[in-house]
Amino acid sequence: MKILAIDTSTDETSVAVTEGQHIVSNVISSQVRYHKKFGGVVPMLAARLHGERIDSVVELALQRAKFSLDEIDAVAVTYGPGLAPALQVGINKAKELAVKVPLYAVNHMRGHIASAFSGKHEMQFPFLAVLVSGGHSELVLVEKWGSFEILGETLDDALGEAYDKVGRMLGLGYPAGKLIANLAAKGNAEAYDLPVPMLRGDTLNLSYSGLKNACRLLVKAEEPLTATKIADIAASFERVAQESLYRKVKLIVKDRPEIKQVVLAGGVSANTALRKRLRQLGKEFGYELVVPANLKLCTDNAAMIGIAAYFDIQAGAMPVDPTVIDRNPGLRLD
Ligand code: KG4
Ligand code: ZN
Repeated sequence: MKILAIDTSTDETSVAVTEGQHIVSNVISSQVRYHKKFGGVVPMLAARLHGERIDSVVELALQRAKFSLDEIDAVAVTYGPGLAPALQVGINKAKELAVKVPLYAVNHMRGHIASAFSGKHEMQFPFLAVLVSGGHSELVLVEKWGSFEILGETLDDALGEAYDKVGRMLGLGYPAGKLIANLAAKGNAEAYDLPVPMLRGDTLNLSYSGLKNACRLLVKAEEPLTATKIADIAASFERVAQESLYRKVKLIVKDRPEIKQVVLAGGVSANTALRKRLRQLGKEFGYELVVPANLKLCTDNAAMIGIAAYFDIQAGAMPVDPTVIDRNPGLRLD
């Protein structure tokens, strides 16, 4: 079954063609340079840019897949979570394209989980999904496809958002995740003593606003910043931010020896240090760390939506009526 998938949930206009878990094409048109000067994504600007680009991105995705629209068996589109006006652009286009074929509405976060299972990688239930992006930080127990239990989630900022905000304080560009990670690799992670968030008790929730504020005070105290100080702050922030997540994952896998896979997905899953730590933990607790096959699949893309639609269909999902499909900006996994 050939699926044409669309994701316009935030600032990437993306269209893909997938067949089962196989990615035939995956076109991503990033708007990041337009949002850069605002230090974050501006919803109406995102919607306008999606509108300007969507037709050519659809065309390119079909062209790269070497398929015509007539050869497509179904259309899948993200209906949430995301920015309402941005989601709407993708939904409108999907409705237009799905006149003769079924239309499937896909949860963007299911897409992030599915992003780790492109190609031939098989899911082994139950598994833990560690979803860390600019908008979400969630620890999800997946009993089977469609049965998602959020064991813990951030009470305030997402992990990627914390990277971006601390990056801004350090005068780095947006998004700052990769820039901080690169600096952190050169800095001294023990240079500054920052508070590890949500350390006490056995809560599985996360929180990054306290750490962000601690970084703000640290930056102020260390001004004027030098290159060394910036690298040391980046490294210390990264160590502490990841330590918190690492400890929660450890609590979960310790408690549930039946977990044989931990899926790390979302934009922050591109982070090498985080992968390394969670892979190491896997050796101790007997799980395989599954990450998306390439960096393009870590951040927002439509191929993951096509694969999620395939899993949804296998689990019995029915097509939606194009006249009633609606965006759901606050859609949850559970
Ligand atoms: O999943 P994504 O593309 O968009 C959302 O749905 O939010 O994630 C983007 C986030 C940004 O906050 C970015 O700073 C972060 O992922 N990110 C990273 C890295 N690459 C991207 N964070 C840490 N290390 C990285 N290497
Ligand atoms: Zn995302």
